[in-house]
Amino acid sequence: MKKIKVQSTSGTYEILFGRRAAAQSAKAVAGLGRQGSIFLVSSPRVWKYLGARLDKIFKGVHRATLLFDDREAAKNLSTVERTCRQMVRAGADRRALLVAIGGGVVGDVAGFVAASYARGVQLVHIPTTLVAQVDSAIGGKTGVNLPEGKNLVGAFYPAKLVVADPELLRTLPQREYRSGIYEIIKYGAIGDARLFRFLEQNLEKILRRDPAALDFVIERSILQKARVVSRDERESGLREILNFGHTFAHALESVTRYRKYLHGEAVGWGMIAASKLAVSSGIFPAKDSGRLISLISGVGRLPPWPDASPVRLIAAMQADKKTRAGRLRFVLPEKIGKVRCGAEADPQILSDILRECASAGPRK
Ligand SMILES: NC(=O)c1ccc[n+]([C@@H]2O[C@H](COP(=O)([O-])OP(=O)(O)OC[C@H]3O[C@@H](n4cnc5c(N)ncnc54)[C@H](O)[C@@H]3O)[C@@H](O)[C@H]2O)c1
Ligand SMILES: [Zn+2]
Repeated sequence: MKKIKVQSTSGTYEILFGRRAAAQSAKAVAGLGRQGSIFLVSSPRVWKYLGARLDKIFKGVHRATLLFDDREAAKNLSTVERTCRQMVRAGADRRALLVAIGGGVVGDVAGFVAASYARGVQLVHIPTTLVAQVDSAIGGKTGVNLPEGKNLVGAFYPAKLVVADPELLRTLPQREYRSGIYEIIKYGAIGDARLFRFLEQNLEKILRRDPAALDFVIERSILQKARVVSRDERESGLREILNFGHTFAHALESVTRYRKYLHGEAVGWGMIAASKLAVSSGIFPAKDSGRLISLISGVGRLPPWPDASPVRLIAAMQADKKTRAGRLRFVLPEKIGKVRCGAEADPQILSDILRECASAGPRK
């Protein structure tokens, strides 16, 4: 088991990474020091697969298990309210500690509950999806959606401990699993050329979940996310690089009302579009773009580009909360392993790229 440290404004915390880390989680939680009752928070679906195992690990340690619906459509304030009320009834006071066990939805909702309940109780993440292990459980972003948009209400609330055990991914459906691989490709593209090369050479192994290959790419991704958020928790600079592909991705997700793509799939498309934009803007060699697009295509077939005009997609990008004063800013690659933030795009080139993506998707 490895220990990776993350600095945050509320102190340093550890990510325990490795197979069998989950088995150590109750002990690690107890090691956090004096606390009140421990509550496990998860979803009925995650609990169906992992409940028996986690119950055994936390036997005699936790006070109650609270489950809520983890569909994206239920990632809202009603779920937060219901969960807080369940906590009152289960006897949680301000010394309570929540252990969020699940994917990004469970982590984001439980994290926001932890940030708000009794003005803040302790939080531990045990991520159970690939996206959650390499991304959402690290860095302290929590929150829920409003009908007006995604993640519009939330808080920065880092966990006291994250336990990432790749064994827990065993039951993850293949499409969800692939969705996480796109985010891993992102880590390679933005800052880790060695990880990128490893992905190119071992993609087939990773797709069949070969433990050694999978553990390597998860660990490299966690290390990079930990490094970036430790230096810039509040996204005032460096953290922006994590948004590579995301300006396009959020537009694709929003014009299809979050029904067509898993988030990682939209990021896959987003990186393709950003890569083409960077080539057209003269800052990214066509050869590197070819490598990136071919790696993304190798993961599998992406759901097709949406049937939406460039004008509509650009409007969706402008509505994104990361846009500043309506000006579109992109994170664009300069070479494999290096990106540039805050790039503005020529509107004509941008429309052409969007049209090109619509007509020539990655085929496999
Ligand atoms: N806070 C952040 O920094 C951050 C970063 C990235 C994404 N997110 C958020 O995360 C969410 C997406 O998270 P996700 O991709 O983890 O998906 P998810 O939480 O929606 O989970 C995907 C599906 O897999 C199921 N599942 C989870 N673990 C399982 C397991 N081990 N075996 C079988 N099924 C399992 C879930 O019940 C769900 O049906 C989005 O809401 C996104 O906004 C947040
Ligand atoms: Zn993402």
